[in-house]
Amino acid sequence: SLTVVRTVHELRERVGAWRRAGATVAVVPTMGALHDGHLSLVRTALARADRVIVTLFVNPKQFNNAADLAAYPRTEKDDAAKLALLGADILFAPDGDEMYAPGFSTTVSVSNVSEGLCGGHRPGHFDGVATVVTKLLLQSGADFACFGEKDFQQLQVVRRLVRDLDIPVEIVGCPTVREADGLALSSRNVRLCEEQRKIAPGLAAILFETAERLAEGADADAALAASRLALTEAGFDMVEYLELRDEATLMPVVRPAKPARLLAAVWLGDVRLIDNVGVAAL
Ligand code: PAJ
Repeated sequence: SLTVVRTVHELRERVGAWRRAGATVAVVPTMGALHDGHLSLVRTALARADRVIVTLFVNPKQFNNAADLAAYPRTEKDDAAKLALLGADILFAPDGDEMYAPGFSTTVSVSNVSEGLCGGHRPGHFDGVATVVTKLLLQSGADFACFGEKDFQQLQVVRRLVRDLDIPVEIVGCPTVREADGLALSSRNVRLCEEQRKIAPGLAAILFETAERLAEGADADAALAASRLALTEAGFDMVEYLELRDEATLMPVVRPAKPARLLAAVWLGDVRLIDNVGVAAL
């Protein structure tokens, strides 16, 4: 059955008891408002480890916009019910002071992979993510930690910090869960009006189509320019970025000689959507 835990002390005691009994542990960090994308991570965690911790913390340090933080959905009761049904063991939901005690002064900052893309448009965002993820990994002491490819740059930032700081955890990347029409599941999708919701799946459709063209050897600059135009014509209000990057380093690439990733952020009104797809090497 699911136990809700509020303090790092209690979390460590419970995980310690599991460990003494020889159990393996997986953690799934989230900000709550759980949808099927989050739940697929929990299923992967349950398949990997004997015990599963899901964390719920709306991390103020990764929001570069106070209104966005205030508007973030908080549905802990529903979240707990979904997790209990799946068979997760602990919901770790600390309050703000438990995570960041008064006088908190440390930042984990990852260079290179966190630059550009979302990092270029959301100053401080990945410092906030890296700091809280480091804490969650150390607090839980998990063997495995599951992250979605939906936030591909975040996944690579986490892989990098775990290697650089020798944190003894295996990062498990999980495929993006999509609606039947291709739209990647996101807690922000509920903010789309009916008209915008019809436009939204165009993002995934255009990314998949462009990835296919790139894998067939199309010139990257021309293909990306055509897709930016296609996104605008599909009805998106702004294309924040659309870029081809190396899958591992996230460095810009012109010809995908190694596996690459096509990543985009677009706006529909005041809703920002991100998505990405793999591009096979030539
Ligand atoms: P959040 O947006 O709640 O996402 C939690 C996890 O769910 C992330 O690993 C994210 O990539 C994954 N996820 C979201 N939508 C998904 C989808 N459609 N398919 C597959 N996985 C999906 O990402 C965060 O929270 C925070 O930055 C966090 C890592 C918890 C640090 O605060």
